[in-house]
Parts: sequence; C-alpha cells; structure tokens
Amino acid sequence: MENFLLSLMVNGREYSLAVPVEATLLHVLREQLHLTGTKNGCGKGYCGACTVIMGGKAIKACRTLALKASGQEVVTIEGLGTNGQLDPLQEAFIEHSAVQCGYCTPGMIMAAKALLDAQPHPSEEQIRKALAGNLCRCTGYQRIVRAIQEAAETMTGHRPRSTTVELKTSTLVGASILRSDAKDKVTGRAIYAADLFFPNMLYGQALRAQLPHAEIIRIDTSKARAMAGVEAVLTAEDVPGENSFGIIFSDQPVLCRDRVRYMGDAVALVAAISPEVASRACQEIVVEYRELPAVFSAQEALAPDAPQIHAEGNIANRITIDKGDIERGFCMADVVIENTYDTPFAEHAFLEPEAGMAVPDNDGGVTVYVGSQDPFGDRRQVAQALGLSEEKVRIVHTVTGGAFGGKDDISLQIHVALLALKTGRPAKMVFSREESMIVHPKKHPFLMRYKTGATRDGLLTAVEAQIISDKGAYASLSLPTIRNAAVHAIGPYAVPNVRVEAIGVFTNNPPAGAMRGFGVPQVAFAHELQMDALAHKLGIDPLELRLKNALKVGSVTASGEVLQHSVGLTETIRRAAEELKKMPRESGIGVGVACAFKNVGFGHGRDEPAGAEIVLGEDGQLFVHIGASELGQGINTVLQQMVAQELGIALERVQVYSGDTAMAPSCGATTASRQTFIIGNATLLAAQQARMRLLGLAEHKLKVKKEELVFKNGHIVARADPQKSLSVNDVLTVAHEQGLQVLGSSRYYPPPTTPLSPETVRSETAVTYLSYGFATQIAIVRVDQNTGQVQVLAIIAAHDVGKAINPLLVKSQIEGGCTMGVGYALLEEMVIERGITKTLNFNKYRIPTFQMAPKVLPIIVEDEEPHGPFGAKGVGEISTVPTAAAIVNAIYDATGVRITSLPATPQKIRRALLDRQESVEEWGLGVPSSSRPAYPGQGGN
Ligand code: FES
Repeated sequence: MENFLLSLMVNGREYSLAVPVEATLLHVLREQLHLTGTKNGCGKGYCGACTVIMGGKAIKACRTLALKASGQEVVTIEGLGTNGQLDPLQEAFIEHSAVQCGYCTPGMIMAAKALLDAQPHPSEEQIRKALAGNLCRCTGYQRIVRAIQEAAETMTGHRPRSTTVELKTSTLVGASILRSDAKDKVTGRAIYAADLFFPNMLYGQALRAQLPHAEIIRIDTSKARAMAGVEAVLTAEDVPGENSFGIIFSDQPVLCRDRVRYMGDAVALVAAISPEVASRACQEIVVEYRELPAVFSAQEALAPDAPQIHAEGNIANRITIDKGDIERGFCMADVVIENTYDTPFAEHAFLEPEAGMAVPDNDGGVTVYVGSQDPFGDRRQVAQALGLSEEKVRIVHTVTGGAFGGKDDISLQIHVALLALKTGRPAKMVFSREESMIVHPKKHPFLMRYKTGATRDGLLTAVEAQIISDKGAYASLSLPTIRNAAVHAIGPYAVPNVRVEAIGVFTNNPPAGAMRGFGVPQVAFAHELQMDALAHKLGIDPLELRLKNALKVGSVTASGEVLQHSVGLTETIRRAAEELKKMPRESGIGVGVACAFKNVGFGHGRDEPAGAEIVLGEDGQLFVHIGASELGQGINTVLQQMVAQELGIALERVQVYSGDTAMAPSCGATTASRQTFIIGNATLLAAQQARMRLLGLAEHKLKVKKEELVFKNGHIVARADPQKSLSVNDVLTVAHEQGLQVLGSSRYYPPPTTPLSPETVRSETAVTYLSYGFATQIAIVRVDQNTGQVQVLAIIAAHDVGKAINPLLVKSQIEGGCTMGVGYALLEEMVIERGITKTLNFNKYRIPTFQMAPKVLPIIVEDEEPHGPFGAKGVGEISTVPTAAAIVNAIYDATGVRITSLPATPQKIRRALLDRQESVEEWGLGVPSSSRPAYPGQGGN
C-alpha cells in the first residue's frame, strides 16, 4: 500500500509519520503512536468510542482519513488534564460513577469536552443531543449526563473542584466507594486486549464459513501461503489436540474439517505481519463446499423430516417440570388467560469487540491475554485443543469492555494460541464489529405458549408454559439457559399447580448462549403480561395481584424449593408503589408493572467452589488474587471493601487482581450473578484467615492473648487495656519482616444444591439455587398514538440485593440493566435471514442512546441472605429481567393494545392500534381504558 508523509500535532507534540494513504486517523493513533486510549468499537463511526478532538471539533477517528489530519491539531484522552491533575470532566466521571467497563469513556469524555468548549452551559437536552452518537452499554447514561453537568459548573467557576477523588478512603462495607479502576479508565491508561503490542508480533484472522450448512469438499491454501508477509495458514489438520470446544458440551470445531453449521464457523486461520495482509490472505483461500439442506427456525428443525444438525438429533435439551395437579388447578380457576409470546435473538452489544493476544512461552506453553468471563474455562478448552496440559496454558484476563454473558464462550482464545505456537511469535486477533456480531452466541429467542388460571380473588391456581427456543448451531450455554427459563417460568409467585416444558432446538443460525438473565427475561416477558392481563380481567390492581401471589419465606417455587430466607419481593412491590405515588399524574401516560426473581449461582447440584489468596507485598500492600473477572460491574472494588473492612485498614492498601490463572485459585465463570456471593465469600474467608494471622503477630508483640485483642480504627487493641495497641500497618511490617507472604488462602464451598428432578419437585425438597434476587419495576411511558413511538419517561426499579456492599455500584448496575431492558423492549432484534446475520453493526442493531435512555429511579431493598458475604446476593442480571414486561404493560395502559412480540416497535404498535377492536376481542378483555383498574397514585387514565 502506498504511503504518504503525515505531519500533525497530537496532544501538543509534533509528529511526522509515513502513513498508508487509506489509513484512518484511528489507525495512526492506535497502531502507529500507540495512543490506545482512543477505542475502536465499530469501525464505522456509529458508536463514538473513537471520538477525539481535531481542530476544536469532536470527530470520529475511525471515519476520518489520516490525510485529513495533515497539519491539524488533535487532542486525545491522553492529552486531557494538566500537570498531572485530571480534567474536571475526568474527575466528574469518576465521582458520579459514570464509568463501568470504561470502553466508551474516553470517546464520551472527548465528545463532552468539545461540547463544553463550544457551549459552557449546555442544558440536559443539549448534552443528550450532542452526545447522541456516543453509545454506552453499561451505565444507562444518566450518570454521564450528571457528570457533564457538574464538570460544566466546575469549569465555569460555579462549583469548586471535586475533592471526592482524593477522599475515597472509607473502608466500610455498605459505603458508596468510588470504583478502584475508574482513574485508569477516564485517562485512557486502562489496557484492554486490543491495546497490547509485543515486539515481533503477528496479526491473526479467521476465514469464516461462506454457507450456513455445507460439506467441505476441499480447502486450497496455496495462494495464501505464498503471499508476502504471510507467516502461517492453518486448517483443521493443524489442530494438535482435540478439534472441538464448548463450555459444557465440546461440540464446536476449532477449525471445521468437513462440515460447517453456521456462518460464524472458522474454516482456516492466517497469521501475517499486518491485519491487512492477514485479511487479504483469507480472501485467497479457496474452499469448495457442497451445500446441505438447512433449518432456520425451531419449528423447521422439529419437523419429522428436518435435516439433522448433529448426529444426536435436533433437540438439544428438553426440561419438564410437573408440580401439583395441573388439570385440577385449572378446574379451580374462575378465570383462565391463554396466549402466545415471542422474543427475538438479541445481541450483547458490549462496546469492546473480542480481542486477544497470545505469547509463546519458553517451555512450549502459551500465555493468552483476553477479556474473558471464564479464564479457567478458557484454560481448559485451550489446553484441550492444543494438546497441552492445563499447566502449560496461562490465561490473563485483561480489562474488559463489557461482556453481559457474551464473553463466557471461547471466541478467539484457541485460534490466537494456535497461531502463536505454530509461528513461535506473539499473535494478536481483534474482531471487527461485524465479525463479533456473526460469531458469538446470542440471547435465545423464545416462542412461549402460556395458560394461567386464577380465582376471582386473584389467587393463582395453575400455570402451564410451553417454551421452544431456536438455540442455533452449537450447544454453548443452552442447557443452563433453558433450565433456568423453566425454573423461573411462572415468575416470582406461589403457584400450587405447574406444568412447564422447555425445549432448545439446533438450527443453522448463530448459537444461542448466555446473555444477561440466562433465559429469565424471556419468560418474565410472558408471565408478567399474563399477570397484567389477569389483573385487568379480574379488575384487580396489578400491584395488588402481584402482592397476593408474591413468593415469601416458606413459599414453594416451581422447582419444589421451599424458600427459607431473604425473599424481599413484597418489600420491592411496596417500595416501588410508594415511589410511584410521588410521581406527578399526567394524562396520556401509561404505567406498567412487572416483577421478577433471578437465581444466584449455577445451582442444580453443581459444585461451584472458589478460592482467594491475600498476599503481602513489600511495601505493606495487600494483593488479593481471585479467579473471577472484573467486567465493568465493579467486583474488584466490592472485594477491596470487604478486605479493608475485615482487616480495619485503608482501602488503598488493598489491590485486587482478577482472572490470571497462574496467580489465582480457580473459581467458576463470572456469570449467573454469582461472583459477589461466591468469590465474595472466598475473599472474606481469606481475609478472616489474614486477620487471625495478624492477631497472632500482635499477641506476640503486645503479650496479650489474641482472644483479648480487637481491631479498632486501624489498630489492634487489647480489650481490657486500650493503651496496649499496635497499628495494623505496624503488624503488617512485622509480618513482612518475618517473611510472611500469603496471609490468607481460602477455598469456599457454597451450600449444596440439588438437581432438578420430578422427585424433588413433588416432595418439595429441592434446593435449586444458592439464593435469589427479587425485583419490582414500574415503567412510565408516553405513546404517540399516530406513529406508535414510545418514550420511556421513567423506570422505578426496586431490587432486593440482600446487602448492598457498595450502594453506588448497585444503583449503577440497576440503571444500566434497566436501560438494556429498554432496548430489549423497544428496539433490539438480531435479524437473521436464512442463517445470514443482517444486523451487523450499530446502524442496524440499534441499542438505546442518550436520547432514548429513561430516568431510572433505583431503590435498594436489603433482605439479607444469611449465606452471602455480609448478607449480599447479586444484582448483575436481574436489573434487566422485568424491564421489557413493565414497558409493554405500560404501553397497554396507555393505548389499550397489548404487544406480545418483542421488540415492541412503532410498526407493531401502530398496526395493533389500527386493529384495536380485533385485538380487544381476541383477548376477551373488552375493558375500555377509563374503566381499567387504577395504578396506585395514578388514578387510571
Ligand atoms: Fe460505557 Fe461500558 S461504561 S460501554
């Protein structure tokens, strides 16, 4: 490629560089200047992660040719702040918890900087409009807006500079501590996998299938191998170990040998001196296929003569639950509601596409740097494919730009390791947004048939649910997802008679796997619309109906579990209703409610132990090593708080290192809302061990028995004689002098759970999961009855989290989760036509922006979980679970039409409004809006 000489100023420094004429400014910044604070989220200018300031204006560096930057002054995130002090915007982002995974943050701050430079006093509307092209998948935007508003006040002298950044020293569990990684994220110093550069490194690229279902007749790699700059071209023959991977079932080929089953299957791999050469080499590989008959829906796949995707047949999993006597339950009902619902394939849309770097080790092993939800699971699968022992494979979890279940599965870990070992050189792979959309597993689409019976007083007597899911080409995490859906299918209600059948079916679509909620958001959509329809049919307040049937301590779930403790659902309903009463009443507004529960941990009899280690550093720092992954949710900060609290030391003395398989004891994946509970307990045990060690040392020094010593204000003090004391810092120094390194090392075994079985269901002896989170959300919407456009004005979100170790982080999770739920309700659908994904980037797969993100009012309910660390449960997933149902119920309240198919697009709403009469008859409701039951505080409408 032809080069030209580019002269420009970046962050006040002049550069003259030879640059390819087709290169973008983003390429120059990241690949040539290694200014990696500027991120590449989509490569097409849709997400704003690459925003920098050029000539005083915010621009998208991925869409700007480097040629255009000639003679220009460019400012990137690395250029903000002066004399080591953060810019007020950076400070405000930290202080307002406007940062989670941090991948959008540099671009967001640069866009805000350009706005405030041009307009020092922007209104909220102006901020939302100016940043409309910057996407964030984690925060829900409202904290970003607040941060920008506050920075504007600081910059115009209307507010003193923030001191909170320096004041983050409280050690108490339950305090809203600012997250420990925020400073690196607002300055662009956080290193994600794509930001890594090693000397002599190569770039990898996979050739993907060109048909959704085909036999491979021949692969010819000769032309690609002969290309200058190509160092390796690999096919299935080059996989030294088992040519398959998968978290539970190892059914997906590393490189397809004789058959492809979906468009994301990898057929060959290239390593080359640049991404461009690797990409051209892929195009030179010739693959001859014989197309096979394919199936593109669960219904097609279930037909008796359907082509079989796997030798074992097309049914991947079937879960059934039978509790009580379903026929009798419906006989007892005065009212029966029956309907069908469907939800689409949906996409995680984490802002950081998959990336990884592998470095060969001297002993024949390999180290893989990757943002992963399951470093130990990755290690097992990489080792299996490479034919190595697990000790020869090290996975180092890097800073991760969001995951939401989409980084549970292997994406490029095996490929990049294979390339590194075959070439003997470091190898890096970075997915484009399009490749990311095609390859990784999606949220399961569900087709659901529901029948719900209740007495005229509103007591549920029976629920029957049939669920069919297109689970795509490979198993991924379908089994636990479908099982989760079955267990949660009746919602958080006590129902004596239940029948559920849930089936996952193989097709030639992309695999379906884990996504925030693990099958529960789909069933929540159905059971909460059923509850709403029931409430309206019976003329009972929808909140009242839920209160009547809500799970409580002593209630029995669908899977036969008698709930023993920490069931805060009723309280979430009451608190959400109270908040609603405070809202102003407006005509034309719709109000909808939905409740949910969501498991904590894998459960179902699976062992899920975890370990943690607390190591003393030379300068008295404590390093906590854990196998779990910080993905933006804030687990590192939460653990830092727990250890600091337990040892009575300042927060800054504790650093958490997560997800390095060579440094940390193993633990399961960071998924299923489990890590606050599991790794929290493991860390707490390690901290308690460290505490005993320190007491032992103090006993020796103070000549007071350790049983007589207490931790108080950073000191170890004799209970009977407070004069006798030592600071914890001094005790740590003693520990260091004595050569103590590991202060605490734990292995935590959670309470046992039981597999789902007819016996445990019937005998009500099941312990299906470790615990459950509970939630009630109320959505307030305005619907334009002409266009069908919905504006979600607010979401009240009351969540029982057991104990909020860090309320600020809990609220941030709730806000982000609700906003993701808004997308699921109104916008998001992976369009896959005959196995080919059509929604390949953020212009087609639309997620909520600044302009459509609602105001979220998070409410924390604390019904402490006795087995949780300090009483905590999880909140990561449940924040998304009831949102779509609440919004669609609010649309019904506003319009009288019920949308049973997600997303509830303007087209569907408009069509339903036109067919309103027919719709009303079909539902048998016949309830004009004026006579519908009123929501508390709203007075109906
Ligand atoms: Fe914005 Fe993660 S914090 S995308």
